[in-house]
Amino acid sequence: MSEHFGSRDPSIRVVLQPKDTNSQGTIFGGIILSYIDLAGAVECGRITKQKVVTVAVKEVQFKAPVYMGEVVSFYTTTTRVGNTSISVHVDVEVFRGHETIPVTEADLTFVCVDAKGEPTKVLRT
Ligand SMILES: CC(C)(COP(=O)(O)OP(=O)(O)OC[C@H]1O[C@@H](n2cnc3c(N)ncnc32)[C@H](O)[C@@H]1OP(=O)(O)O)[C@@H](O)C(=O)NCCC(=O)NCCS
Repeated sequence: MSEHFGSRDPSIRVVLQPKDTNSQGTIFGGIILSYIDLAGAVECGRITKQKVVTVAVKEVQFKAPVYMGEVVSFYTTTTRVGNTSISVHVDVEVFRGHETIPVTEADLTFVCVDAKGEPTKVLRT
C-alpha cells in the first residue's frame, strides 16, 4: 500500500452512489468493470483521437470491497500500441483512512475502428 492519493493523476476518479451497491452494501463488480473500460478508453484518447472499441478484457480479480461514498481512482498505462490495437493496464485504488487500497487491476485491448466499425491503423495524435 502506498500514499500517493493526489500525487498522480488518474484517468478517472468517481464517488460511488447508492444505486451502485449490491444487497451486501458493497459496490457491484460490474460497476467497477464499466469504469475500468471507460478509464481504458480515456487512456486511448492520449494516444489517438480515433474511435476505439473494446475487444478484450483479461482476467480481473477483486482484491478488496468498495463501499458506497468512497472515492475510487482508475490509473491507466498504455502497455502496447499495435497496428490497429492499443493495450492498456488499469489499476483501481480506493483511498480509505490514510491508506491507498488496491481494489483490482485489469489489462484491456482496444481496437481503432473506422466509420464502418472495421479495424483501422492507429494514428498517433
Ligand atoms: C474489435 C473488432 C472491430 C475487431 O475486429 P476483427 O476483425 O476481429 O479484428 P482483427 O482480428 O483484425 O484484430 C484487430 C486487432 O485486435 C487485436 N485483437 C483481436 N482480438 C483480440 C483479443 N482477444 N485480445 C487481444 N487483442 C485482440 C488483434 O491482435 C489486432 O491487433 P493489431 O492490429 O494491433 O495487431 C470486432 O471484433 C468488434 O467490432 N468487436 C465488438 C467491439 C465492441 O462492440 N466492444 C464493446 C463491447 S460490446
